[in-house]
Amino acid sequence: MKEPFFITTAIDYTNGAPHIGHAYEKILADVLARFQRQEGRDVFFLTGVDQHGQKVQQSAEKAGVSPQGYVDQVTAKFRALWEKLGVRYDGWAATTDALHKECVRANLQILWDDKVPGTDRSRWIYKKTQRGFYSVRQEQFLTDKERGADGEFGPEWQPVEEREEENFYFRLTEHPDLGFDPKQWLLDFIDRRSAEAKPFVVPEFRVAELRNAVEKLEGDLCISRPAARLQWGIPFPESFGEGFVTYVWFDALVNYYSAVADRPGVWPAALHVIGKDILVPPHAVYWPIMLHAAGIELPRGLLAHGWWLTSGSKMSKSKGNAVGPLALVEEFGADALRFFLIREMNVGQDGDFSRELFLIRYNSDLANDLGNLVNRVLNMTNRFAGGAVPAADGGAEPEAEVRALWEATARDYIPLFEQHQFHTALERLFAFIRSINGYIEKRAPWKLGKSPEAADQALLRTSLATMAEALRLACVALRPVMPGSSERINSVLGYQPSGTWREELAWGGRLTGSKVAESLVLFPRPAPAGKAP
Ligand code: MSP
Repeated sequence: MKEPFFITTAIDYTNGAPHIGHAYEKILADVLARFQRQEGRDVFFLTGVDQHGQKVQQSAEKAGVSPQGYVDQVTAKFRALWEKLGVRYDGWAATTDALHKECVRANLQILWDDKVPGTDRSRWIYKKTQRGFYSVRQEQFLTDKERGADGEFGPEWQPVEEREEENFYFRLTEHPDLGFDPKQWLLDFIDRRSAEAKPFVVPEFRVAELRNAVEKLEGDLCISRPAARLQWGIPFPESFGEGFVTYVWFDALVNYYSAVADRPGVWPAALHVIGKDILVPPHAVYWPIMLHAAGIELPRGLLAHGWWLTSGSKMSKSKGNAVGPLALVEEFGADALRFFLIREMNVGQDGDFSRELFLIRYNSDLANDLGNLVNRVLNMTNRFAGGAVPAADGGAEPEAEVRALWEATARDYIPLFEQHQFHTALERLFAFIRSINGYIEKRAPWKLGKSPEAADQALLRTSLATMAEALRLACVALRPVMPGSSERINSVLGYQPSGTWREELAWGGRLTGSKVAESLVLFPRPAPAGKAP
């Protein structure tokens, strides 16, 4: 039986167009999903959109359309982009879907119905009136902790207004009604996972950060919004009384579960891929406690990635420094962008995005190293072997070196993927690709081709076979990251993949006799800056 692998991404707010940060996360999860599929797992890849909340309500008002009309338009943009980028998901979660809304309400009802024995009080949810300063931007009440050094609430909270509100709260802290301390339970859970060498959060340095945050946790979570102020949300079940909609996180997190509620055997998630900004508290505190409260199995792990920055600050819609992925995809192709984002970013860290950096990678790694190699293999196979890859005929040290470097690269490649060290895996793979180009220089088939000697002709066949096989292997390894290019290279090499991925990754002269195409321009050079194409 295939082992299941349920992978999810954060669901993006539909209050603006997608940027590179959103695209990175979906591509990262897609690379992982494709990798796991290659490894023979039964993958279910879920992504989607977070469509409720005050920000959407406000954006829709500004645009003069209904909230549903607004989110439908924005959702279409996200879906079109994922299609263009080759993000191949199995499930789509949209929080305005009927089944999702039903699940959120059912979840609230379960928590509400879990009563303190002998009373009609819920153990988990209670009602309270709160008076205080409210940040309209962040949709939350503020405490003194949020005040700056000057005693004022900073611009990230503005506008701030005084309010009094009655709401429902979900317990995150110890209370006699609960009979245990959720905070301590969470700490124990995190520690147990680490002790079992299955850390709840990767990269593992985030575990300490998470523990620290949990220890500092104060207060419970306000999970409702009065319908008088926010209409664009999921109404609470009638048993709670009239006039409340669900706080956007208590709605959004449930997507991971609701989207597969009608598919038995998919839950629990193997991995939630999310940005570091939404690790604590939503994914690493609210979500596990919510699931525990409802008696549902917890996800296996969270992968928290870093941010894409522009000139050192986080790219975001509100800052107006967001880079749109669409223009890049149209200019350079989906795989070039996929490659850049995965090659350049060390998953846990932040990375800088600029067109200059993008062009450097594109020109050196893709156009020069990989693109050139493809052309050399095609060109020389046509020139010196009538277009059919010959069988290797002997070989000496240069061939042994190429093969040994491949074997070392392949040995580490899959473990690096398993440890989410994609940038290192690609760095190693491109060092191998460069070494094939080096090998070609060394063997100089164009010189061997001119020699009538039988030994030189044998070496010519060997060099053509070696470079073709090495390119085939590199291209098999690239498949999860650059699926489109990998397929095109297979096709020009006349390679028909067969067997498991690991079998395909073994050196083996699989192309002998294969008819190759005339040429392939995979990564055309961009027009020089300043000149229109
Ligand atoms: N809607 C919530 C998530 C709910 S999940 C149940 C949300 N949406 S978001 O649109 O603001 O962000 C979606 C994802 O994109 C998050 O994981 C976030 O970290 C990621 N990114 C947004 N900007 C980013 C960068 N500049 N760089 C990398 N990823 C970042 O949060």
